[in-house]
Amino acid sequence: MAKKKEKIGRRSAHWFGREDIYGFIYRSWVKNRGVPHDQFDGRPVIGICNTYSELVPCNSHFRTLAEQVKAGVLEAGGFPLEFPVMSLGETLLRPTAMLYRNLVSMDVEESIRANPLDGVVLLVGCDKTTPALLMGAASVDLPAIAVSGGPMLSGKYRGADIGSGTNVWSMSEDLRAGKITLAEFHEAESCMHRSHGHCMTMGTASTMASMVEALGVGLPGNAAYPAVDARRNVLARMAGRRIVELVKQDVRLSHILTRQAFENAIRVNAAIGGSTNAVIHLIAIARRIGVPLTLDDWDRLGRGVHTLVNLMPSGKYLMEDFCYAGGLPAVIRELGEAGLLHKRAPTVNGKTIWENCKDAPNHNRDVIMPFSRPFKRNAGIAVLRGNLAPDGAIIKPSAATPRLMKHQGRAVVFEDIEDFHRRIDDPKLKIDASDVLVLKNCGPKGYPGMAEVGNMPLPQRLLKRGITDMVRISDARMSGTAYGTVVLHVAPEAAAGGPLALVRDGDLIELDVPRRRLHLHVSDEELARRRAQWKPPKPPLARGYWKLYVEHVNQAHEGADFDFLVGKSGAFVPRDNH
Ligand code: FES
Repeated sequence: MAKKKEKIGRRSAHWFGREDIYGFIYRSWVKNRGVPHDQFDGRPVIGICNTYSELVPCNSHFRTLAEQVKAGVLEAGGFPLEFPVMSLGETLLRPTAMLYRNLVSMDVEESIRANPLDGVVLLVGCDKTTPALLMGAASVDLPAIAVSGGPMLSGKYRGADIGSGTNVWSMSEDLRAGKITLAEFHEAESCMHRSHGHCMTMGTASTMASMVEALGVGLPGNAAYPAVDARRNVLARMAGRRIVELVKQDVRLSHILTRQAFENAIRVNAAIGGSTNAVIHLIAIARRIGVPLTLDDWDRLGRGVHTLVNLMPSGKYLMEDFCYAGGLPAVIRELGEAGLLHKRAPTVNGKTIWENCKDAPNHNRDVIMPFSRPFKRNAGIAVLRGNLAPDGAIIKPSAATPRLMKHQGRAVVFEDIEDFHRRIDDPKLKIDASDVLVLKNCGPKGYPGMAEVGNMPLPQRLLKRGITDMVRISDARMSGTAYGTVVLHVAPEAAAGGPLALVRDGDLIELDVPRRRLHLHVSDEELARRRAQWKPPKPPLARGYWKLYVEHVNQAHEGADFDFLVGKSGAFVPRDNH
């Protein structure tokens, strides 16, 4: 009797628990691959949301990972059902994977809600797969655990470590400056990515894997175990076991993704020197689950937090070193001891974040530095405002050149990325190291999809003179593996009519990071004159998903989600189709 009650109580029982024609249909087709009848006895049905794709090299081992999750679900008495969703790879997708993050989140949300699932394990890896799956799952709000695919092993080239992305930028500049040959460039290509996994610098994928762990929505160890480490498989298996318990206890995502969890994650992001992309993604996830989170929270909570992790792109080590040094629990312990952690925030393993991390060892204090002797001081994301960015812009101080954090320079303006590529190495371009590079129309609507082009390459002739950094300002994003004094996410963006659209060559721009100021020294009257002449750029494609995207995407400070996706609709059971 008790069993029958439990069977009806589960969401999946609305499909599999029925003793009528519909129950027959729902069960019978699933049985076609040899599923025994007892799997439909009311046990938790667990979806395994898989972003495996050969077009997404970072997630290419996810079939193995899914099998581990499945084994764990079965061991705990659940019924696993794996399903695919669209996957997003940073390297191959054009114009940018970010264009499709919201689309995937819709795929995930609807796939979960429309099916007989009680809980879900999200297999995430390459940059956008993590926020996309968390956003989709948050909108349904079932019990959920995220399992990251793990970073690749360290790149090794001619006796030295080379990191995903980070060394691509530096080597491509070396090639342009004539410091290395094309043959050396090709050789490095083969040495950089030599195992399964995602980028092994503290780029966006590693950052988001760390956010998963810091938010409590992943198991301890999620951030750093390499993809090919046996412990990554164990973690997936344990997630499979644990999700069954979460369903039985009805611990939904909203019980884990609290305001305190997001505040912890923001501080962890500063402590790891995490990607600027986390700002957009965390705001988008929070707005889905119903937690108010703004750019100002990032600035406020990041103040006084030091970067402890000495990893590329800001430092010298890689994720493999981070793992061996103790991984994210060692960082969280430092924050907890410094009074910068909500210690009672719950996590999916049933313990608080502090219970998980309070005894975490640190095996290498050159990789994970103590809070009292940090790698970089006061390195939280800084939020800038001013007449050039009324709704905000951000900069990552830990990746910037200290002497440029207060700078005034003459604007050298590019109307879009094609204009930039056309003219940056043109000998006729008037440019000097003290100038400020300004790039327009690369924001959410303008690109569209907000490309990672904010870290514009410097002009060849300045590189040859040994110039390594200049102030760069745009409405674009920047790869988490990149670095430089780069002001990003200017909002409103140029294509939405933001003041960035009005900047002209020769205008004086003032950047003052300590005072959080980004000012265009042009009078209001002159700006009004320019605005009267401004015309919005034509979108490159005015149909299908691109049209939907441009018409509905929010600005960067709101997480660049679709206006109609903010908030959650819950896990209601849609009416059947018979
Ligand atoms: Fe996938 Fe970097 S390209 S994580």
